[in-house]
Amino acid sequence: MQPEVDNFLKFLPDRLADCAKKAGGKRALALATHISEAQLFRYISGKSEIPVNRLVAIALAAKVSPAWLLTGDAAVADGEPNRPPFREALLVNITQVLEELLIEYEKNFTPAQRAQAINFMYKALRHEEILRDIHLTITKPLMLGFVNFLVDIKNEDILIALNHAVDFFEYSHQNTDFNLHAGEFSAFVNHIIRAYAYYYDSASGRAYYDRTGSQILPHNAKQLDNIISTTQKSLGKMKLDVLDIGCGSARDMSYLHRHYDNISIHGTDQSNFALKICQDLIQREQLPQNSVVKSDLRIIPFPKERFDLLISRMSFYCLPYLPNSGLGVETLINEAWRSLKPNGLFYIVSRVGDGREYLPFCQYYNQVSFKNLIEQHGFELVWYEEENLKRALQTSCSHITVEDKYYETFRALIRKII
Ligand SMILES: C[S@@+](CC[C@H](N)C(=O)[O-])C[C@H]1O[C@@H](n2cnc3c(N)ncnc32)[C@H](O)[C@@H]1O
Repeated sequence: MQPEVDNFLKFLPDRLADCAKKAGGKRALALATHISEAQLFRYISGKSEIPVNRLVAIALAAKVSPAWLLTGDAAVADGEPNRPPFREALLVNITQVLEELLIEYEKNFTPAQRAQAINFMYKALRHEEILRDIHLTITKPLMLGFVNFLVDIKNEDILIALNHAVDFFEYSHQNTDFNLHAGEFSAFVNHIIRAYAYYYDSASGRAYYDRTGSQILPHNAKQLDNIISTTQKSLGKMKLDVLDIGCGSARDMSYLHRHYDNISIHGTDQSNFALKICQDLIQREQLPQNSVVKSDLRIIPFPKERFDLLISRMSFYCLPYLPNSGLGVETLINEAWRSLKPNGLFYIVSRVGDGREYLPFCQYYNQVSFKNLIEQHGFELVWYEEENLKRALQTSCSHITVEDKYYETFRALIRKII
């Protein structure tokens, strides 16, 4: 076990003893929590492991933050000024649903793993609440999605690294010079990418591909037609080499293949489910042979200046943006530049907003931050526009109970400059 995790558990009995004092003694605490005094003694002396629901009950009786009792995180106890106010109902909600899910799926978690997982989920989701100005209700399907995203949730090192990243990005006053922390942040980026690989290979990924299918929506088809004609006019030729980055179930690719004789189409994705769907499309001749390659978004496994047009529909937000680090989305943009012909175009559809969410990961952009990012990497903005996807597509996502702002997307066309 990690020394850090050892420490974390070592001091839990001390914090429990503090709680007994705050509640007016062990007997008073026992009465308030409906836990027998003998059992309380076993928790305080470290002889028995304490279930998380009892831990929360003790925190409430002692009027301390359950997050502090769980983790010993001083920042939570001190109410560090730029941390959002503690929301007990969210922590209880996360804890209960996670416990139910772990029992249902017979997942064995040690108390330290549970505590780290709850710590991360609380921080990530509380941050999301503040970002979107909402209160989340965590349901089992939603929790299953989170657990699928964090399938390495049992790996304490990863959870600790993710916890550190949230603290650093959201609550530290340190100068965010990512070069100073390059090793740490490259590990963070790698964890996010692995988390997405697991997510899209899990039941949640399968549900996503089943829901979206392999047919492009008429609304998106029209937009794609416009992009193709703009690219043909801009480059002064009809024959185009196109690459779809993070192609998923190849909706855009198969549309282009079926409707345009003069387009040679390729795609990349890292999800095994997505690749299987693409293989089936190839067998049914809805995609060309050898058109899809397994690859991380950060790598375009083709020679330089190979493509006229790149497409990234709803995959761009899966990579973190750490300005001037050369990591995450900056690696993708550099690769895009390398693989495009001179004056080649890149069409991006992604999510509008500020900052980032962690569960699942989502990097937001607005026109200013997006323009900054691409201009620093050898591109110019041809156009940028925002649209509300829910209104535009008239879809409903029943598992998400948030307001329309969640569906705010931007579409942008950028051009490689030399
Ligand atoms: C929301 S889906 C969009 C799929 C497709 N572009 C579409 O519009 O149907 C996001 C896709 O990005 C892929 N993805 C996410 N992170 C990735 C990474 N680091 N490397 C490769 N693919 C990634 C996922 O596997 C998934 O297929």
